[in-house]
Amino acid sequence: MISPLDETWRSLLDDVARERKWPTSSDVKRLASNVRALSSAYNDGAQAPAARARSADALGARLLFSFPRDVPKGAAAVRELLSAGLLRIPADRPLRILDVGAGLGAMTWGIVRALAGAGQSGAVEAFLVDEDPTAIELAARIFKRRAGEGNVRITARCTSGTVDDAAARTDATFDLVIAGQLLSELHRDRPDPERVTRHVELVLSLLKRVREHGALVIVEPALRPRTRHLHAVRDALITPPRPGVTLFAPCLHASACPMLTNPGDWCHEDLPVNLPAWLVDVARGAGLRWEGLTYSYLILRRDEAQLAGSLVPAQPDGMRLRVVSDLIVTKGKCEVFLCSEAGSLVRPARLDRAHSETNASFRSLVRGDLVTIQPFSERRIERETSVKRCSS
Ligand SMILES: C[S@@+](CC[C@H](N)C(=O)[O-])C[C@H]1O[C@@H](n2cnc3c(N)ncnc32)[C@H](O)[C@@H]1O
Repeated sequence: MISPLDETWRSLLDDVARERKWPTSSDVKRLASNVRALSSAYNDGAQAPAARARSADALGARLLFSFPRDVPKGAAAVRELLSAGLLRIPADRPLRILDVGAGLGAMTWGIVRALAGAGQSGAVEAFLVDEDPTAIELAARIFKRRAGEGNVRITARCTSGTVDDAAARTDATFDLVIAGQLLSELHRDRPDPERVTRHVELVLSLLKRVREHGALVIVEPALRPRTRHLHAVRDALITPPRPGVTLFAPCLHASACPMLTNPGDWCHEDLPVNLPAWLVDVARGAGLRWEGLTYSYLILRRDEAQLAGSLVPAQPDGMRLRVVSDLIVTKGKCEVFLCSEAGSLVRPARLDRAHSETNASFRSLVRGDLVTIQPFSERRIERETSVKRCSS
């Protein structure tokens, strides 16, 4: 269960803003204007990352808007690891997290909230690295004011440094390494495919910081070019297959990403999680959406655990698939795009007159759901077809 940040978080973030003499969440007009400026600087890409995200106005907008918007992305990105039982706080030591390009720490907090939400208890030790000393100092201020979530306590070390430095360290390994909305920030001046190659190297070096049964989680904005870049990095990481590099999610297969065939396609999440009520007017004032949680992601593991296998065993005439579009409802039928464990993009349709108890859940599928369809046909959901949702 992923939830927006509540009022206790609002007052914490307002306190940090006040310390800096920045607008608080109640100063809707100023904050909305700063959020709008930050958002258009990101989207037009005209300014270098440092210039667009490091002014006082931009940092204030990141603190009060980007941070609460992004914490749930960190939680959402690890939900399948949690439901597969592959992300647990050990009983005898803290869970160790490395958060690179950590900014204000939204990804780490998302993971802590997800662990607490899953009923786990114990200690998390987080190491946060960002090349911007002001951002990482803000992250440290947030940790000073909050010691955890639910029964999960966190201690954090916040350091200013580059992701390359963090990846190059050889003496530390982590249960989870996370790079949130960092990859598409890097090497923007380099042309593809050079940039893809560089990011594959970076990802492989980050994977070396992961313990044997740990995971590397990469979260990116859901924007089409950034997500398609992530698809290209994904393909280059697993073609040819490399020992010690297992694709865990979102894909249920390790074939070429079918989204790359058509330039208009991209695989992203859009979960029904809204901004907290206290930010709705800010989003409105900035011309941004407050409904839905959008992001794209990639989870790699060093062991061989795969999402498909941890959900349901393969069935001889069945197929495990991920929903990669909204439901398309037209007169007399509904359809949806699915990415199959065989690596193909399919669009089965169910005629309204073929509705039955066994296929009823087809009509309520949403983007990101994982399903089994049995017996499987690429084109039709028949009356006797079984459609079972197996999402977390
Ligand atoms: C869009 S923010 C994302 C922050 C956070 N991970 C999140 O998801 O909310 C990107 C962050 O990456 C940092 N960054 C950019 N290039 C970096 C590099 N080479 N090494 C370390 N951090 C970097 C920026 O300073 C910025 O704080």
